[in-house]
Amino acid sequence: MRSAAFWAFAASTALLSPAAAFYLPGTAPRDYLVGEPIDVFVNTLTPMLNSKLKSLISHDYYDERFHFCQPPGGPVAQPESLGSILFGDRILSSPYEIRMMENTTCQTLCRSRVPREDAKFINDRIKEDYGLNFIIDGLPSSEMKRDSKTGEIFLDAEGFNLGDDETEPDRPALNNHYDIYIQYHARDAHHFRVVGVLVYPRSVDSLVGNSEANCFDDRQLHLSETNDNELYYTYSVSFLESSVPWGLRWDSYLHVFDPKIHWFSLINSLVIVGFLVFMVAMILWRTISKDISRYNAIDLSEEVQEDYGWKLVHGEVFRQPQRPMVLSVMVGSGAHLAIMAIVTLLFALFGFLSPSNRGSLATVLLICWTLFGCVSGYVSARTYATLGGEQWKPNLVLTAILFPTIIFSFIGLLNVFLIGASASGAVPFGTILAVLLLWFLISAPLSVGGYFYGMKHGAFSSPVRVNSIPRQIPPKPWYLRTYQAAILGGILPFGAAFVELYFVLSSLFGNRAYYAFGFLFLTFTVVALTTATVTVLFTYFVLCAEEYRWHWRAFLIGGGSAFWMFAYGVWYWASRLSLGSFTSVVLYFGYLSLFSLLDFLVGGSIGYIAAHFAIRRLYSSIRVD
Ligand SMILES: *[C@@H]1O[C@H](CO)[C@@H](O)[C@H](O)[C@H]1NC(C)=O
Repeated sequence: MRSAAFWAFAASTALLSPAAAFYLPGTAPRDYLVGEPIDVFVNTLTPMLNSKLKSLISHDYYDERFHFCQPPGGPVAQPESLGSILFGDRILSSPYEIRMMENTTCQTLCRSRVPREDAKFINDRIKEDYGLNFIIDGLPSSEMKRDSKTGEIFLDAEGFNLGDDETEPDRPALNNHYDIYIQYHARDAHHFRVVGVLVYPRSVDSLVGNSEANCFDDRQLHLSETNDNELYYTYSVSFLESSVPWGLRWDSYLHVFDPKIHWFSLINSLVIVGFLVFMVAMILWRTISKDISRYNAIDLSEEVQEDYGWKLVHGEVFRQPQRPMVLSVMVGSGAHLAIMAIVTLLFALFGFLSPSNRGSLATVLLICWTLFGCVSGYVSARTYATLGGEQWKPNLVLTAILFPTIIFSFIGLLNVFLIGASASGAVPFGTILAVLLLWFLISAPLSVGGYFYGMKHGAFSSPVRVNSIPRQIPPKPWYLRTYQAAILGGILPFGAAFVELYFVLSSLFGNRAYYAFGFLFLTFTVVALTTATVTVLFTYFVLCAEEYRWHWRAFLIGGGSAFWMFAYGVWYWASRLSLGSFTSVVLYFGYLSLFSLLDFLVGGSIGYIAAHFAIRRLYSSIRVD
């Protein structure tokens, strides 16, 4: 008896647990012999999400103001995927020398000189909780942590502290010594594999009175902003045996924070959406079946009775709305983005986005966006034809370029800001070119192809004729006015998503890995369902109020959650972030507006398409003479 429920639970747990998902290995395992060098690569410095996130800008490791030690001959950039570059990785070689199975203590990396002007820069970055990110044998440097809620031990790859501003808040100390622990797995007596990388930094005034670095001094190293500074960078390496085989080495990184909260939120939204779908189904079914039978009866029994509600506007609902051109382009672009999101989430869900393939999420997003260009063309063509638009050529061109242009120029503007702040998150020219090529050579032609295919399928026929003279529209209650309805309608989809949104924001802006793709996928599905039902419900109310201009209203109501998302972003900024610099604030609000715009398009498109089919269904069931 119990077993069915038990297996359902076990299956869903497997679905939602990242460790159970299999993932494609990004790199082949590498066997090291004793004494073989292990490469250490350095990535950008990123702000860490401690109690509050204080900056959004990442800095190049070899930004000259840091004065980190450079490898002889200068740092060499490592090849990276497009997605990895877009997500801000800049991976370079480093002068660290680590050899398999050779423990070292207090090795000197170099002696560095920090002039007083740059000491202030470094101290400010320490106060903003910047972290360093090393990559050793493809694994990110991490700290071992215990989840205070579940007691689980996991590796946190958020980075390790650039400095320490907690011991003495007014005098930040620079961490210039790193204790590197490499966990290895012995294949046999001679072959070893790296299965974990831990780095613990500390600050030590190793120079005092010595010509050689002394890593065991108790005093911390404070950079003076009035005098030039001299310091040593040092490191120690220890190899620790581990029983974890290579194939499972990422498992301890794939940690889902607060799984209970994810579950709680998911169940919560499932209850909401279940209730909502039931409500909509009941209301629509009961009212409509009653309405329809009464409506059809009226004509037969020649009783003169006033018509009311949505039936009155049967001669108007399929009247062409204002600006059908823009509307169809928006519906097409929204459908494009929705399909892109769904397919990417499916990829993530089934574990194809291996964490060892850095930036694979962004790469898959980009590929899906490129290939599903055809969806925007198809949907836009059919919507435009249904709305009775006749200028298909401008419509086709706008569909292929309008929203990509808006989004790319927006990102370009943010990029200019990043370059202005000499931060490293700026996308390099070659990458921009590659994305533009993807767009013009693949995505835009696919969109055109999709458009022609959509034109071949043509318009959806209207089930009822449009009257030649438009009806007067009576005044309606406040909650059915366009913007009020949009904002009200947005509450439920947003309510179903906001807990998950919190985690997504934390990992987008904080450098925190996000692996709860199972939850994210289910949340996306629930939000899409909620958006569709809420829009249908509101559109029905609008029509009952004899307001027949439903096309734009349906789009706005569906996209209404964007308003709440933006408001939530403002709250998150006020309560969870304390961004110091103007650039960070501009970046944050820039990205927030961009996400809200994308959410608006996706939600609006889902709402419009749902309302379109519901209304066709509704009016095709009544009898009109
Ligand atoms: C390296 O150091 C660790 C602990 O510091 C120790 O357990 C291990 O045996 C050492 N390995 C070698 C090869 O000396």
